[in-house]
Amino acid sequence: MRALILSGGAGTRLRPFTYTGAKQLVPVANKPILFYVIENIVAAGISEIGIVIAPETGDEVKSRVGDGSRWNVNIEYFLQEKPLGLAHAVMVARDYLIDGPFLMYLGDNLIGSRITKEVEDFKDNQELSASIFLKPVSNPRAFGVAVTDESGRVIDLIEKPEKPPSNLALVGIYLFRPMIFEAISNIKPSRRGELEITDAISWLIKNGYKVQSHVVESWWLDTGKKDDLLLANDIVMDEWLQTDIRGSVDSGSRITGRVVVGENAKIEESIVRGPAVIGEGAHLFKAIIGPFTAIGAGVRIERSTVEHCVIMEDCVIQDVPRLEHSVLGRRVYVRPAPRNQESLCLMVGDDCVVEIGRK
Ligand code: DAU
Repeated sequence: MRALILSGGAGTRLRPFTYTGAKQLVPVANKPILFYVIENIVAAGISEIGIVIAPETGDEVKSRVGDGSRWNVNIEYFLQEKPLGLAHAVMVARDYLIDGPFLMYLGDNLIGSRITKEVEDFKDNQELSASIFLKPVSNPRAFGVAVTDESGRVIDLIEKPEKPPSNLALVGIYLFRPMIFEAISNIKPSRRGELEITDAISWLIKNGYKVQSHVVESWWLDTGKKDDLLLANDIVMDEWLQTDIRGSVDSGSRITGRVVVGENAKIEESIVRGPAVIGEGAHLFKAIIGPFTAIGAGVRIERSTVEHCVIMEDCVIQDVPRLEHSVLGRRVYVRPAPRNQESLCLMVGDDCVVEIGRK
């Protein structure tokens, strides 16, 4: 069986990070979301993976992921010229997928469980045209929503409905047989101008094909926005992080809880409270790093306290009494204003958010 990962799209909800990078490469516990996706596919026994990429971010995805040898699998790339929808993205890779059942996985979705059993069941059960993963949510209007019968067979599906018929959201993981291509060629673009995979699956149902569902028991995160990203970091660090100290920690420093310290990182006169990840070559000096914090490679933190944050590569944080619940992109500088200490002195790009502490 082959798999297709969708790693195109515009990533508007994760601006400003997506101005300069693919949203699927945004790190969770210092590892790109896309790598968790690939690992879950590989764990399900699939070794041929296609990745749909966009013109703007495709080269970055290719250079980070490579040809798949890191995971012992083959990876091929398919360029989608414009983000015309999930079903359109599948069509771009039609020739790669047409010969048998396949798995489709959205490159920005993280789930806390393996999908091996569902993949095996789908392979064995020839009468299924599609199989989808569902999760009860409190805000179904933001997702594709399904109605199922008591056996889990899907009887209706709607994309981002105003009046959701259930609270079962479509998780971004799907199993298909090749009749999905016939379905896609029979649908029209939606109100948001995209060819929706949800509409293609609806077409299958309306034309008598059998579509099954599985309810995901573990957590599921669509890492679309800042708070989702911080939550994804919390959960991944809480559940999966194992202590691994490779860099140097001096005798004046204290490390408690589960902490990863990357190669060539240097921790001096600092406190790190896990779960936390300190990236390769990062340098902490008189810093206090609180729980649920991911410090990227090459970051320098001096005389500052940082808690519940994602700090991406090569940032510098100096003399900041307390930074919390924050996400910093790459190469960001945070330091005291040079002259008037009462004022804020900013140089921030488009779509950034600055929240100022008050008493
Ligand atoms: O996250 C689950 C939801 O994903 C489902 O509940 C919805 O039914 C499904 O339509 C999808 O909705 P989103 O609005 O969240 O999809 P988004 O535009 O964020 O795209 C999902 C992934 O697919 C993302 O990694 C970008 C990629 N993509 C997206 C489009 C529109 C492409 O590769 N090509 C595209 O044309």
